[in-house]
Amino acid sequence: MATHKVLLVDTIHPVFNHLINQAGIQCDDGTHLSKEEIIERINEYDGIEIRSRFKIDKAFLDQCNRLKFIARAGAGMENIDVKLAYEKGIVCINAPEGNRDAVGEHAIGMLLMFFNHLKRADAEVRQGIWKREENRGTELQGKTVGIIGFGNMGSAFAEKLKGFGVRILAYDKYITIDQTNFPYVTQTTLETVFEQTDILSLHIPLTAETNYLVNDSFFQQFKKPIYVINTARGKVVDTNALMNQLKAGSVIGACLDVLEYESISFEQLAHANMPEAFQYLVQSEKVILSPHIGGWTHESNEKIVRVLAEKIIQLLKK
Ligand code: 3PG
Repeated sequence: MATHKVLLVDTIHPVFNHLINQAGIQCDDGTHLSKEEIIERINEYDGIEIRSRFKIDKAFLDQCNRLKFIARAGAGMENIDVKLAYEKGIVCINAPEGNRDAVGEHAIGMLLMFFNHLKRADAEVRQGIWKREENRGTELQGKTVGIIGFGNMGSAFAEKLKGFGVRILAYDKYITIDQTNFPYVTQTTLETVFEQTDILSLHIPLTAETNYLVNDSFFQQFKKPIYVINTARGKVVDTNALMNQLKAGSVIGACLDVLEYESISFEQLAHANMPEAFQYLVQSEKVILSPHIGGWTHESNEKIVRVLAEKIIQLLKK
């Protein structure tokens, strides 16, 4: 394995270098290089590590003659043309096992913050305002949670929810849920989710199929007013539609860790002049926002690289 070389193009926990070097693989820092400079050097490497700094598209992949793998330090693969990579014999690896617990806990945190008015109550007490009746909370107990997407993230969220006395429905088009591992989850149709959900949580990747999946007509199919949690990808939700549903009261509240207005790398909001829907969200009492940190804990930072390094080592052993 001594001749294998990996190029890091995104910042990553230092344990990665240690584990990779220990396995006899050379690890070079390319975080300071531009995409063009990386392309110039790409044929010196067997693998590349990336988070979401830039798109690995056809133009990039067409320059790769030696690359054996693309290792995504995280979960979402939407910035990588995975299909084309596979056609070129390049294996794409990710590490959702490393940040699923973080996402599950973050979703619970947002939900509890909303249900117990913690954002407002905290701000009020700091101003010497002591309102008890106005800040009376709502319990999760007895609610029906509809999870869309039951991969690493959706299942981790369900696992964290277990102790709250909620009913958990899960819809996943591609996964058959193992009832031995998840006896407290009912796999169901989308129609049942529409009919019975009180709290909707999205845990699907961003693909052509899921882009704007949650739009006006999707929202209109719910039979009850719902709460929405999005820790997946901003573009899965049509924010205009969400704004309209919030205004109409058919969405009671939204917990959003991701926004459709993020840049490709998630490091900033894309637009200088944000659209009306964004302006609405930021002033709304019905919305809890966080800057795409659901999967970002101190623990997940390290767990992601441990998972990723192990997968790379196993791959290169083959
Ligand atoms: C992920 O897909 O792992 C998260 O959304 C975080 O991605 P990032 O580390 O590339 O920002």
